[in-house]
Parts: sequence; structure tokens; C-alpha cells
Amino acid sequence: MSRRPLVAGNWKMNMLNADGVALAREIAEKYAALKSPKCDVLVCPPAIWVAGVAQAVAGKIAVGAQDCHAAESGAHTGDISVPMIKDAGASFVIVGHSERRTNHHETDADVKAKAEAVIKHGLTAVICIGETEAQRDAGKTIDVCRSQIQGSMPDGATAENVVIAYEPVWAIGTGRTPTTKDVEDVHAAIREAIAAKTDKKTADGMRILYGGSVKPSNAEELMALPDVDGALVGGASLKAADFWAIVEAC
Ligand code: 13P
Repeated sequence: MSRRPLVAGNWKMNMLNADGVALAREIAEKYAALKSPKCDVLVCPPAIWVAGVAQAVAGKIAVGAQDCHAAESGAHTGDISVPMIKDAGASFVIVGHSERRTNHHETDADVKAKAEAVIKHGLTAVICIGETEAQRDAGKTIDVCRSQIQGSMPDGATAENVVIAYEPVWAIGTGRTPTTKDVEDVHAAIREAIAAKTDKKTADGMRILYGGSVKPSNAEELMALPDVDGALVGGASLKAADFWAIVEAC
């Protein structure tokens, strides 16, 4: 089963308008200049910049939001719905990032409801999962990932409308990464959990990204692992040269 890798940049709460547009445009132009790109590229700016970035990249690369509300509209001050994100020109939404699970107390059920809204409107959900350091130390990494897949993945998930991102919480923004063997073992276990929740064909086709301190110097060995189908990049996605080096590693 060949899965087309995806390199996604999660800008988190960084970038003002002009810098974000310039960064996205540079990546889009480099990507458009490739003769036969071997991977897809996605940038996820803060919600307020999604429309401007989508306009700047003009469909050359994909644009996504970092979160959404599960409802289509209503009295939810400060929140943003999937139809709004779609209207702004985005085709992906990250849901369940550990920073949202921690800072906004989002549960698996919340993440599942958001992912359902994303796929209902024809966008692709990037569902984030991953263990904390304490869970890893307790030997619970695979149990945690399995239960997050079970609880966060919507019933209508397919290889087209869902991407999973495995992001060990302790590896985010710390410069630390699991060993390549650990990454491969966890990704393989996640694929089994996806098969248990859906079916083997769906699991074989679904992309599982690795995220957590991905940088130009480690991208190649991580991306070479059989069950790693791309990267969800935080800090290194804020500099065009670094992000582009990761795209090239793919
Ligand atoms: P870093 O690449 O900065 O570790 O962040 C990873 C991440 O959280 C992407 O969603």
C-alpha cells in the first residue's frame, strides 16, 4: 500500500500577517517549482491568517486551521466553525493537539465531535494523539495511543478524510525525540488500532505523521521508517529553509 507522505507545518500562535504570508508564499513557490513532488505540503497558520495565507498560496499547497468548534454556528464567542474555515480556503483542520487537550481540557469525545464536523464538511481532520512523559515512563505509550484512537476517531473516518499525527507530548518543543525503533513500534501499533476501529484496508491507506522536535537534522531517518507517512512540524515550520529541508527529506 503506497501512502503519499504529508509534511504539515503547525505554526501554533506565531507569526504576524506579513511574515506568515511571505513564509507560506515561499514554500508554495518552491513546491510549485518541483517537477514531480513526492509528498503533499500543508501549512496551518493561526485562524486569523488562514484566509490571507490561502489566498497567497493560491492552491499550490494546502492550508489548514489548528482547531475548530464542533457546531456549525451559534452562540460560541471566540470560536470558529468548520464551514468558516472552509470558506476561508482551508482544506485541513488539526484537532486534538496536546496543547488543546491540556490547555483547554479537551477530551477524546470533544476531539471526536470536532473531527466529525471536519469530515462532514468535506475537509480532512489531522487527529493528534500521544502520551505524556509519565505515561511513557509507566510503559503505557501504546495503551494511551490505542485508547485515543478508539475515542477520538470518528466513525466515518477513511484514509482520505483523516490523518493521524503521533506526537509524544514530551517530545514537543523539547528537542528530544523517541528512538527510531520506538517511533516505528508506536506507529505500527497505531495502525493496528486504526484497523481495529475501521478495517485493514482503511488502516493501510491512512497516513500517520510523526510530530515532536522534527528538524532538518532528524527528518530523513524519521521519514524513512515504514509506518511514518510524513511529519507534523512545529518550531521548524516557522523558517522557510528548515521547513523546506524537511519537505525535501520526505
Ligand atoms: P515542535 O516541532 O516544535 O516540537 O512541535 C511539534 C508540534 O506540536 C506540532 O504540532
